[in-house]
Amino acid sequence: TRTIKLAVIPGDGIGPEVVAEANRVLDAVLTGGDVALERTEFRLGAERFLATGETLPAAEQAAIAEHDAILFGAVGGVPGDPRLKDANIERGLLLKLRFDFDHYANVRPCTLFPGVVSALADPGAVDFVVVREGTEGPYAGNGGTLRAGTPGEVATEVSVNTAHGIERVVRYAFETARERPRRKLTWVHKTNVLTHAGAVWQRLVQSISAEFPEIAVDYMHIDAATIFMVQDPSRFDVIVTDNLFGDILTDLAGAIGGGIGLAASGNINPEGAFPSMFEPVHGSAPDIAGQQKADPTAAILSAAIMLDHLGLPGEAERVRAGVRADLAARGAEPRATAAIGDAIIAALPGRRA
Ligand code: NAD
Ligand code: IPM
Ligand code: MN
Repeated sequence: TRTIKLAVIPGDGIGPEVVAEANRVLDAVLTGGDVALERTEFRLGAERFLATGETLPAAEQAAIAEHDAILFGAVGGVPGDPRLKDANIERGLLLKLRFDFDHYANVRPCTLFPGVVSALADPGAVDFVVVREGTEGPYAGNGGTLRAGTPGEVATEVSVNTAHGIERVVRYAFETARERPRRKLTWVHKTNVLTHAGAVWQRLVQSISAEFPEIAVDYMHIDAATIFMVQDPSRFDVIVTDNLFGDILTDLAGAIGGGIGLAASGNINPEGAFPSMFEPVHGSAPDIAGQQKADPTAAILSAAIMLDHLGLPGEAERVRAGVRADLAARGAEPRATAAIGDAIIAALPGRRA
């Protein structure tokens, strides 16, 4: 039996509700096989901060680092809650984990499954994956404020782009494209304006593409990419882009793929030096928290990406098949979070009773 050490961070709001279903699906798909999950739960997020004043204690981060993977729900309180003003949960917890664990490949698939209603009236066949750079760009935290609170205030957020950081995510995207039937890679930037970073991206995409002659490469400016994604999303296979462009593009992709309740992601450290982290793209949804109204599918599909990453592609595919079957059979009336989990578990192919 192979034992996988899983760190679970349910977080706030609907985080614990959707993570509970992802865990039930994981148990169902692994039952009777020769893989065992050994879970450790870490209570982190806005609630923890309000209770203890802590965001991510170093000892807990060190303990998380000892795991094979992280399953993450969502963190954050009600936007604008004054008690959370100094917490900076997003930077101090979520981004800190992504940065410190070197999650440079933020993988966000967008597949419009049969039976799912897209935000687009006539989307066509949608099946692409965005590889968002996860550790640098405008997210790097390289900024500051001068003359705070005065009419002369100046705030900077200086984008950091290293050849090393771009090289590795671009290579990862080429490798991803090589495994897919269409073998297409679109890189997205704003090279006409962000000329310094753009030139590094351009040079590295070009040089790495020589190692992947079977992959067709094209380029789009980020603004045009949003037009193409709305008008003809079927043209995309793999997209690789900068951290902030990728953040925006993947919310758009979420809407095209049937909504935020279905959008999954993996924050991958491909070398395995640190545990990778798997999370739905959505937040803690305080407006529906605690009511069993959240769709756990995004969390469940994130667990499937985790299974792939852990070298369990058969199990991952069975989870996706269960999700596909449930989505195809979904009616109009809303179901409880746990009822969707039940239905996906019942639809897992080859389920051992
Ligand atoms: P949100 O994603 O939490 O919610 C946006 C809307 O989508 C809400 O109406 C919500 O009810 C709905 N929604 C989200 N997930 C859903 C699901 N699984 N099923 C059904 N409906 C769902 O975004 P927000 O309201 O901007 O943010 C709320 C909090 O979450 C904030 O504190 C924010 O900082 C945080 N946040 C965290 C993450 C994360 O942990 N990765 C990501 C985004 C936002
Ligand atoms: C996401 C979220 C995060 C991001 C926030 C909450 C820090 O929007 O995962 O897309 O900007 O990356
Ligand atoms: Mn986002």
